Amino acid sequence: MTEPAIRSLVPGGGDLDDGAILELYTVADRTEQWLRVNFISSVDGAATSDGLSAGLGSAADLRVFDLLRRLCDVVVVGAGTVRAEGYGPMRLESSAVDWRRAHGLPAHPVFAIVSAGLDLDPESRIFTDAPVRPIVITVEGAPIERRKALSVVADVLIAGTSDVDPTRMLRLLAERGLAQVHCEGGPRFFADLVRGDAVDEICLTIGPALEGPGAPRIVAGATATERRPMDLAHVLESDGTLLLRYTRPHTNA
Ligand SMILES: NC(=O)c1ccc[n+]([C@@H]2O[C@H](COP(=O)([O-])OP(=O)(O)OC[C@H]3O[C@@H](n4cnc5c(N)ncnc54)[C@H](OP(=O)(O)O)[C@@H]3O)[C@@H](O)[C@H]2O)c1
Repeated sequence: MTEPAIRSLVPGGGDLDDGAILELYTVADRTEQWLRVNFISSVDGAATSDGLSAGLGSAADLRVFDLLRRLCDVVVVGAGTVRAEGYGPMRLESSAVDWRRAHGLPAHPVFAIVSAGLDLDPESRIFTDAPVRPIVITVEGAPIERRKALSVVADVLIAGTSDVDPTRMLRLLAERGLAQVHCEGGPRFFADLVRGDAVDEICLTIGPALEGPGAPRIVAGATATERRPMDLAHVLESDGTLLLRYTRPHTNA
């Protein structure tokens, strides 16, 4: 058996501007459905630092986090992450809005929140300050009064019986012309996406620190899933932070 080739990636090429970074994350055909997931972890696999992802990050991670929102039709987030991270409305900054308009896209992506219990405040800024009417993706068993209240401020879609089924969710989004789906977590929702074989791409930032024991991984839950190999698309580096992009094997993204 021959030895596997091992190459050094860092140090490597020169600095990338926003346009070059966006190009690296642009899919071949944006009309074809594509689910990208974005996470950060520490070197030792922690998905949080002091209960939040922010402490793991760096300016480079934030830069790519923001750039990835430019490319999508819809940003999908689990309700646990929305609550924990204190999400506001999905309103991009003006340079991103200009970029999207110049590329024939609506000014802002749609914000879609995944929840079974619907413990979401219809009077929160997520809904009252939304530049585009948000979507709440829920289940048949969701509390009816909460469903009604949220229907006033968001489009409520039913995509499962007790859990949102990723395949049904993606079909409903596709019916609305939302093919480029960008998921910002969290770990419980990601587990369902992996289980449902819905993930076309995972962008993983590795922050250069050890968090020690106790923190969750980027994927949560006890039920094992089938192993899903991924192809490495690129590795970017900034001041010790690694930005990895993996795609579903044999796609031409
Ligand atoms: N490192 C990172 O990049 C990163 C990214 C995101 C989040 N996080 C961290 O992860 C933690 C939150 O973890 P989490 O696992 O609770 O996040 P999560 O997956 O966003 O939230 C779980 C909640 O989302 C809803 N949900 C998820 N999957 C669902 C499904 N298939 N069907 C219906 N509802 C579904 C449920 O909401 P209801 O309870 O409303 O039914 C569930 O309780 C926070 O500490 C956050 O900071 C880290």
